[in-house]
Amino acid sequence: MQTSEILRESWATRVGFIFAAVGSAVGLGNVWRFPFQVGQEGGAAFLFIYLGFILVIGFPAMLVEFVIGRNTKLNPVGALQEFGGGAWGYVGWIFIVIGFVLLAFYSVVAGWTLRYFVGSFTGAYMENPAAYFTQISVGWDAVFFHAVFMLVTISIVAIGIQRGIERAATVIVPAIFIILLSLAVYAFFLDGAADAYTYYLTPDLSEITANWQSVLPAAAGQALFTLSLGMGVMITYASYIGEDRNLGEDGTAIVAFDVIIAFIAGLVVFPIIFTAGVSPADPGPGAIFVSLADAFAGVPLGWLLGAIFFGTFFLAALTSAISIIEVIVTYAIDEHDVDRTVATVTIGTLIFLLGVPTAFDEVIFGMYDQLAAEVLLVLGTLLIMILVGWIAAPRAKAELTKGIEKPGPFIDIWIWLVRVPVILVLIVSLYLALIGFADFLQNELVPWIAE
Ligand code: TRP
Repeated sequence: MQTSEILRESWATRVGFIFAAVGSAVGLGNVWRFPFQVGQEGGAAFLFIYLGFILVIGFPAMLVEFVIGRNTKLNPVGALQEFGGGAWGYVGWIFIVIGFVLLAFYSVVAGWTLRYFVGSFTGAYMENPAAYFTQISVGWDAVFFHAVFMLVTISIVAIGIQRGIERAATVIVPAIFIILLSLAVYAFFLDGAADAYTYYLTPDLSEITANWQSVLPAAAGQALFTLSLGMGVMITYASYIGEDRNLGEDGTAIVAFDVIIAFIAGLVVFPIIFTAGVSPADPGPGAIFVSLADAFAGVPLGWLLGAIFFGTFFLAALTSAISIIEVIVTYAIDEHDVDRTVATVTIGTLIFLLGVPTAFDEVIFGMYDQLAAEVLLVLGTLLIMILVGWIAAPRAKAELTKGIEKPGPFIDIWIWLVRVPVILVLIVSLYLALIGFADFLQNELVPWIAE
């Protein structure tokens, strides 16, 4: 178990664990997926439900993963087997499957960030940002940068220099924060800012009541996606920490970092989109890229700002991608005694191949995204909530209590949140997500195949 030692050692520092977890959480989910979901799901109505879900589902669910990881000190498959008994190991396998699907399309988007980084130096995206996005996001171009991104990820994980990456997160996260904040200030002075803020910050209740069947699962999915929950990342990371840590405090810090970065991304993207006269619901996955390219084209030294931004964005995606593949690699090493390099290269290659179809068509891309985020992550989370809330509650409560000096009613509030409201919301979201997904297959995939 060479890996565990490397990671255990690296998290000897007090903040190492927090930085690694924040490095995993902060990624494309904050800067890319979040604004794109807000746009698709009707603006502020989505924002507020998302924020509510972060508090009511995300935070308790993160503690659930921490508790399982720290208590068992194992990879997710082993951890669930040990925490819940035999058959629960199979749930761990679901996590492994999720990792494959998730990283397959995540890497394609990460490839776009790399492409924009390169494009900053030539100014390629500035002339016609919308046309540029269409050109690079689909086809062999996209496959090439997807390949490069997977290659970088595989190299780092194979060599096992995550420690370096975790340190890098110390720089990446504040850098993203500062750059986004500066861009938000720039965006504040744009003509479209006022309308954008209304759209982004003033919830229209009728929007929720009219579209709750799609808003609810989207918000739940995004809350889990952005916090890296539902596939065992936080189980794995918490398996390397000591019992003196206050998981409640650490969880609060991680969630706060993550949400603030996403929120600011919205303050950047929407004013730019509104100023450009584009409907926020229109550009879909490309919105963030097109609008930022637009912004960089409009300011002095925009290419430099763009290079710094997309470079940092790429690194943020890298630390997240590493956390996803690490779950699968750790499992292969722990449970099947595979060599780290062999495991990483094999798994990475499979993920690359799985991602190729998403680089060719928006419908396939949407299918992976929806399947992973809205269906599978919710399913994975729901199952471990049942395990901790109803099957192994005493052990979980005892584990969370460790490291918290004055727990007060906190532990009980947590377990009851997990037992009832969290599980109920997840069941409803999963049900709606399945309906939505079936609908998607029928109305988009079938016609697409027929074409
Ligand atoms: N949270 C990351 C992001 O926002 C993505 C991610 C990393 C993730 N690990 C995960 C999502 C595990 C779900 C599950 O970009």
